[in-house]
Amino acid sequence: MSIITLKVNGGTHTLDIDPSTPLLYILRNDVGVQGPHFGCGLGQCGACTVIINGAAVRSCITPCSAVRGEITTLEGLAKDGTLHPVQRAWIEEQVPQCGFCQNGQIMNAKVLLDRNPNPTDAQIREGMAGALCRCMTYYRVQAAIKRAAVSLAAGGPVSDKGGLA
Ligand code: FES
Ligand code: FES
Repeated sequence: MSIITLKVNGGTHTLDIDPSTPLLYILRNDVGVQGPHFGCGLGQCGACTVIINGAAVRSCITPCSAVRGEITTLEGLAKDGTLHPVQRAWIEEQVPQCGFCQNGQIMNAKVLLDRNPNPTDAQIREGMAGALCRCMTYYRVQAAIKRAAVSLAAGGPVSDKGGLA
């Protein structure tokens, strides 16, 4: 066991844990966030994705001792009670079906838009390729990313009719 300090969504958590424990388990069981999901546990589906220092990271295969820097989970995207434009776009496009993969879709989309604020359809498909969805929500994911890009460029949310609110 080791004393490990993790910074999650603006808070600091000091834990006495096995340093080989996957970050996903620590986040869900010790920190108490439920956004990242256990899907494959093998780094292949994306359901467990969190953002660390601006990069999308698969927390199921990341030992907690390997983490350096600030961890953002789905719960950390909203600020002061206001949803992030990506989250709003997800609601407005009614993206989820069962919802299980959607943490990974949203977190990957956030990183994609941070790096490329105006992605083409091909760039979205490429950037989101590792986020798998058994419910085949890919077209709605793509629409939501394009809606979020418009919203972010305008500095505000987008109405449910696709225009600026
Ligand atoms: S649960 Fe981590 S990539 Fe599938
Ligand atoms: S919404 Fe069901 S797995 Fe993606």
